[in-house]
Amino acid sequence: MNILLVGSGGREHALAWKIAQSPLLTRLVIAPGNPGMEKLGELVDIKVTDAERMSAFAREMKADLVVVGPETALERGLADMLNAAGIPCFGPSAKAAQLETSKAFSKVFMERHDIPTAGYGVYERLHEARQALDVFKPPYVIKADGLAAGKGVAISPNRRDAEGEIEWMLGGRFGQAGARVIIEEFMDGEEGSLFALCDGKQVLLLGGAQDHKRAFDGDLGPNTGGMGSYSPAPVFTQELVEKAEREIVMPVIAGMAMEGMPYRGVLYAGLMATADGPKVVEFNARFGDPECQVLMMRIEGDLVPMLLACARGDLTRAPFPAFLPDTVICVVLAAKGYPDSPLEGSIIRGAEQDFGPDVQIFHAGTRRQDDGQLVAAGGRVLNVCARGRDIAEARDRAYAAIKKIDWPGGFYRNDIGWRALERDETA
Ligand code: AMP
Ligand code: GLY
Repeated sequence: MNILLVGSGGREHALAWKIAQSPLLTRLVIAPGNPGMEKLGELVDIKVTDAERMSAFAREMKADLVVVGPETALERGLADMLNAAGIPCFGPSAKAAQLETSKAFSKVFMERHDIPTAGYGVYERLHEARQALDVFKPPYVIKADGLAAGKGVAISPNRRDAEGEIEWMLGGRFGQAGARVIIEEFMDGEEGSLFALCDGKQVLLLGGAQDHKRAFDGDLGPNTGGMGSYSPAPVFTQELVEKAEREIVMPVIAGMAMEGMPYRGVLYAGLMATADGPKVVEFNARFGDPECQVLMMRIEGDLVPMLLACARGDLTRAPFPAFLPDTVICVVLAAKGYPDSPLEGSIIRGAEQDFGPDVQIFHAGTRRQDDGQLVAAGGRVLNVCARGRDIAEARDRAYAAIKKIDWPGGFYRNDIGWRALERDETA
């Protein structure tokens, strides 16, 4: 098979690593990819948001399957263009991707289909949004409608702060993405992400993961795209997963099909385990980053038939995925200054050595200089992933590997997995 993988981050490096192991693979092209993927496939320099060029290239290379990593490509209609050209695409149409690309769409959809989530209102005018704060209680949850690279959510402790956030958002801080704001009821509980492969009608659960959104130890500092992850996530008991499948994942897929927007790809359900059961925090229309990295290391066997079956709409014919019983952890190494102003171009040494069978290093934001030297080229730069019999062993292996990487320009959190570790210690 000829496969085109779209994206350039750690999520896509992990997907490339898994896809490259498939006996079905003839040729893997990654657009645009990153230096970590050089040995896994051919890199072609096409922007993920250039859907026209991407789909033209997929036709040219006679792709049998296109796997889309980032939501920005989906929003531009890449899946629609590929489907029109008869090329199977793992990733939903632009309409179906609205579950992620428009929070207002997603909330109204959930309301229509009785899917458990926080109560909410959608507002375009400042005075209406301000007035609406009367009916909500603090802390106030304020969200920009559209894609804002994970920065479009504010949790305000008091009314003054909430009004300030609303003014900022409706005032154009996120451009068109903030033309509407959503105010939500605050949900209390532990958060986790559940991943489901979907073919438009059926679903196959891949299990759960937890990430760490804050930049610094102890869940302090600014929100980021994610500083680390682990899977499985103990917050997802068997009972909670079954309830979430029944009350959330299945109704979403059935509802999208009924409304003429069949959902094909991976559904990422960000869930809050509340006292009343799992409730939706948000949906994403793609794998999480860095949650994908740990999931890929836990799946045994070939991923490609599953991705193809989703793209073609015949998941029943895909082999059921087996999971290693291990726990996998991922620690993100970020450039100093991330998330506000990451330092570019610092030299990274020792990231490409052999770390043994239980450790994988995925590149998230690296660049190779002409002399072959690896340098930082982004906020999140490297993902150090390790497996173990339990979370403690996985964590120890990941942090031992980090010690062997010489990168003074980077930083990382020392407490990835703390929730799961605490549970193990009190169990
Ligand atoms: P989102 O981008 O919608 O996932 O929101 C970012 C983060 O804000 C989530 O991961 C949650 O930690 C938090 N959050 C969002 N909505 C709520 C809510 N209704 N109640 C409590 N926390 C929330
Ligand atoms: N790690 C959060 C996300 O991928 O959206």
